[in-house]
Amino acid sequence: MYRTNTCGELRLSDAGKKVTLAGWVQRSRKMGGMTFVDLRDRYGITQLVFNEEADAELCALANKLGREYCIQVEGTVNERQSKNNKIPTGDIEIIADKLYILSQSATPPFTIEDNTDGGDDIRMKYRYLDLRRPCVRHNLELRHRMTILIRNFLDSKDFIEVETPILIGSTPEGARDFVVPSRMNPGQFYALPQSPQTLKQLLMVSGFDRYFQIAKCFRDEDLRADRQPEFTQIDCEMSFVDQDDVIDLFEDMARHLFKEVRGVELPAKLQQMTWHEAMRRFGSDKPDLRFGMEFVELMDELKGTGEFAVFNDAEYIGGICAPGCASYTRKQLDQLADFVKKPQVGAKGLVWIKVNEDGTTKSSIDKFYTPEVFAKVVEKAEAKPGDLILILSGDKANKTRTQLCSLRLEMADRLGLKDKNKFECLWIVDFPLFEWSDEEQRLMATHHPFTMPNPDDIPLLDEHPERVRAKAYDFVCNGIEVGGGSLRIHDGQLQEKMFKILGFTPERAMAQFGFLINAFKYGAPPHAGLAFGLDRFVSIMAGLDSIRDCIAFPKNNSGRDVMLEAPSELDDKQLKELQISVDVNQENAE
Ligand code: AMO
Repeated sequence: MYRTNTCGELRLSDAGKKVTLAGWVQRSRKMGGMTFVDLRDRYGITQLVFNEEADAELCALANKLGREYCIQVEGTVNERQSKNNKIPTGDIEIIADKLYILSQSATPPFTIEDNTDGGDDIRMKYRYLDLRRPCVRHNLELRHRMTILIRNFLDSKDFIEVETPILIGSTPEGARDFVVPSRMNPGQFYALPQSPQTLKQLLMVSGFDRYFQIAKCFRDEDLRADRQPEFTQIDCEMSFVDQDDVIDLFEDMARHLFKEVRGVELPAKLQQMTWHEAMRRFGSDKPDLRFGMEFVELMDELKGTGEFAVFNDAEYIGGICAPGCASYTRKQLDQLADFVKKPQVGAKGLVWIKVNEDGTTKSSIDKFYTPEVFAKVVEKAEAKPGDLILILSGDKANKTRTQLCSLRLEMADRLGLKDKNKFECLWIVDFPLFEWSDEEQRLMATHHPFTMPNPDDIPLLDEHPERVRAKAYDFVCNGIEVGGGSLRIHDGQLQEKMFKILGFTPERAMAQFGFLINAFKYGAPPHAGLAFGLDRFVSIMAGLDSIRDCIAFPKNNSGRDVMLEAPSELDDKQLKELQISVDVNQENAE
């Protein structure tokens, strides 16, 4: 037997027992004739003691142990003289009488402790060592626990887990596909699924009624803290349901998870906010409701009431009231102005109004307006003495609102308002069915082409498609889109119309989605679904800043796995077999 116990379980009540432990050397120290070794495994740390007087040879071997050696020890549990109340096993130690080195270790490139000295890059290169650190392992343990809770919850609601293929066909909508060349079909490519969307709809046609899958998805898009090229969805679909049925069921699932994992009770009914309201009040379709600083529209107060041309030409003027920030120095205000002018935010400039302790104001645009105008702004913003009003304007309302949203989030960071132990969840509903793509110069489906239009808006499809609302919903928590879904079109004619608006010829629609169009000819049930991002859900529960920290082997910001050194070049033989020719020099020259 390799071990009788783990390194986390022995207590004072075990004193006198003969035990065998196995694990890794966290550290060892020699004090006179005694050598102390901290032995670590997944479950904890136990102190081993080697006594030179009792067994000089054994102690000499213990003195050779280096950090991260993998060892096995036999000995007797003993009450410690100086107890360590920081660890659960701190009352005992093991008086060792046998030691086996199972494998030696090279000196690890960083310390295997929560507060490691290793930077991001080196930890990713040696991720298997990084994963030995308790704080990283805890994230994966939490992920495991959530996955089990989700599977059991969905199973109890009659959902069936079905695996769908990873090698599928490329679809034009959505993000870019990752593609895989087919050796047996030269010149042809599979695509990796961006989500199992169409396949789960086919399962509804097959009568599965309630499907789920913890599904790997792949999207070739630019990375951010909450995006990985390869991520996991809790993907679900249901037949014979309407929007409220889906929302109620998955709200229950979220409530169950928050209760079990964090001991947090979500409200009995989550708030539902329309997309328009979210944009108007927070400039985002995923508003962070942990703090206030709601937008105040200031068109009536500031357009045409003074000589400031920027405001007089604006289509939108809006502000936020930052509590207690009137004391900001010139330097701090300049930093904020620089922040909004960053290309990622894109505003042209920032206007500020400080509310002094006596209720008077001081502003960056004092010379253009009378104090009465500022007083009206202060009143509208419900600003108090000591507050700072920050204002942006622009010629496109939603674009400016998005910029103001970035400023709101930046201020929340500066003011420490993003409390990781607070969870503010809500549903965003009534998304626009289409959005304009500057890149494609056409309307694109906001979610995907199978999303059901709001039946009340179907008459608008021909003349004003941009005004049509979708039967779609997103689950948002703390400013992060954790899940999203919709009712689907199950009527062939309506689906044809959607493809037409999206610029597909009937031939192209058939070529790309013929399998779905054909399937829908055989009695497609009304159906709807949703997918949660598992990585995002876990990282919110764990209070992480990036989803990378709850993924065992994540990619870096350039989409690389620095440990596996992927992606990598193929050798000529493989390329030839796949009938692919690569000329990187040629590409670079272009
Ligand atoms: P959507 O594209 O909104 O919907 O994705 C669902 C959820 O998946 C997560 N997610 C991601 N997580 C990490 N990295 C990424 N690159 C990434 N992209 C998305 C988000 C998101 O809310 N088929 C539809 C769902 C449906 O309609 O049923 C879909 O994929 O948490």
